[in-house]
Amino acid sequence: MYRSHNNGELRLDHVNQEVCLSGWVQKVRDKGFMIWVDLRDRYGITQLIFDGERSDVSLVENARTLGREFVIQVKGNVIEREAKNLQIPTGQIEILVTSMKILNSSKTPPFTIEDETDGGDELRMKYRYLDIRRNPVRENLVFRSKVTMAVRNYLSQEGFVDVETPYLIKSTPEGARDFVVPSRMNEGQFYALPQSPQTFKQLLMVGGLDKYFQIVKCFRDEDLRADRQPEFTQIDCEMAFVEQEDVLNAFEGLVRHLLQDIKGFKIEAFPRMTYEEAMRTYGNDKPDIRFDMKFGELNTLAQGKGFGVFDSQELVVGIAVPGCSEYSRKQIDQLIDFVKKPQIGANGLVWVKYNKDGSLKSSVDKFFGQEDLKSWALKVNANPGDLLLVMAGEAAKTRTQLSALRMEMAERLNLRNPAEFAPLWVVDFPLLEWDEETHRFHAMHHPFTSPKPEDMHLLDTEPGKVRANAYDMVLNGNEIGGGSIRIFDKATQSRMFDLLGFTKEEARNQFGFLMDAFEYGAPPHGGLAFGLDRLVAILGGQETIRDFIAFPKNNSGRDVMIDAPSPIDEEQLRELRLKLDL
Ligand code: AMO
Repeated sequence: MYRSHNNGELRLDHVNQEVCLSGWVQKVRDKGFMIWVDLRDRYGITQLIFDGERSDVSLVENARTLGREFVIQVKGNVIEREAKNLQIPTGQIEILVTSMKILNSSKTPPFTIEDETDGGDELRMKYRYLDIRRNPVRENLVFRSKVTMAVRNYLSQEGFVDVETPYLIKSTPEGARDFVVPSRMNEGQFYALPQSPQTFKQLLMVGGLDKYFQIVKCFRDEDLRADRQPEFTQIDCEMAFVEQEDVLNAFEGLVRHLLQDIKGFKIEAFPRMTYEEAMRTYGNDKPDIRFDMKFGELNTLAQGKGFGVFDSQELVVGIAVPGCSEYSRKQIDQLIDFVKKPQIGANGLVWVKYNKDGSLKSSVDKFFGQEDLKSWALKVNANPGDLLLVMAGEAAKTRTQLSALRMEMAERLNLRNPAEFAPLWVVDFPLLEWDEETHRFHAMHHPFTSPKPEDMHLLDTEPGKVRANAYDMVLNGNEIGGGSIRIFDKATQSRMFDLLGFTKEEARNQFGFLMDAFEYGAPPHGGLAFGLDRLVAILGGQETIRDFIAFPKNNSGRDVMIDAPSPIDEEQLRELRLKLDL
């Protein structure tokens, strides 16, 4: 038996008991006649004491050979500590060691295994197994497990059936590139790894399974960001005989349950906002609504007053930043620099200080009087003491720029409180998105999403205006899930492929199986998928999903620990017909 207790378990109640513990050496303090060792495992740290006077001298000599991260097993007696450490749960006791066995030695780790480490990102990823020994990383993984279990239990209780779908499939278009796998047995042919199980879950509905879920790996060859990994996990769900409202209610239930169960957080409001409203009010289809700073459109108030910069523009729009009317010239210049950064790309910024005494002072006082500025303040819901920031330009672009500024101000003012959760649904997304590069429409969600019946008549004339039965769930400014009500008849699906520029033959080749299935009594159906990594990260109060994945890829899509991707040998290439003998 390696241990009678773990290293987080022993308390004053255990004093005088003989125990056996195993774990890693966190720290050794050598005081000559006595040596203290902090022994660590997943559960905590227990202090060991090797004392030549109270036990064998050779034991102290042996302890002197220990280094950081050695794996040891000790036997000893629980005693009360003289100098108690009330910071840790085991801090009132220590173990007077009577025997020790070194189970394994360790090289000196390349970074310190403590909450705050000196290891950089790449180094920690290369030695991820050491990183996982650190509390913050391990806690994130344990937290993820807890969320996953809660999701499983909830969905299973709600009657969802967990079904596994294949990983070696044919490409499913979700907007990213596929990772492909060559087939040895089918020369010159490739499987694709699923970007999501989309078509399979729809076929499960045709198969009558009614409610499906799967916690499933998805693979997308796309550029990486803090909230994106090439392989990530979805909570993928589908339901038959549902309308949009049914799906929204079902998964609102899941998120309410998770927040209550895991965070003890009760969600009061779960608003629904149209895509159009989200864009107008927040300049963003994933608004963070934990704080206000809603957009106010100022065209009618600010144009035609002789200020050329505003007059010719499609949109003049502003926000009220709470409590910042006393910003210095330097602080304002920083904001101007921020919006002028190439990533944001604005030309500049107009500011108005709504002073505490009710007077207004702006960067455009030459053109606008107090009454004008007051009307702006009213429009953006400003209070005395606020700072108005106003931008102008082409509508879509300006909204995006002001949205970036809104988020920046929220960061600066600490308004993005990670302990608060503000979910919402964004609904009525456009069905199609015009792609300037390829000069054709793309499906904004995916090609299986149904158009809103009331917009069907626009499909031929103004396809860009057709709205979809598609929805995203947004949590704290992040898209944590998205889905739609699907097309379930062959004619509409076929028309959709036409609109997206597929020839009949391409549509048949790629999606013949789905359209065939639609001819055998496909029920109305719909669903959604959550990004589990994102959901877990946000529940954990963070936004970088890498910290919640055991073995993540770096920004170039590499696993630096196992060094993948990597070349394969000639023989393998030949066998796969990827390299032909000349
Ligand atoms: P979608 O493409 O919106 O929908 O993906 C669903 C959710 O998955 C998460 N996500 C990602 N997370 C980490 N890394 C990535 N690269 C990544 N890409 C997406 C997001 C997103 O909201 N089949 C549809 C769902 C459906 O219609 O039912 C789909 O995959 O949180």
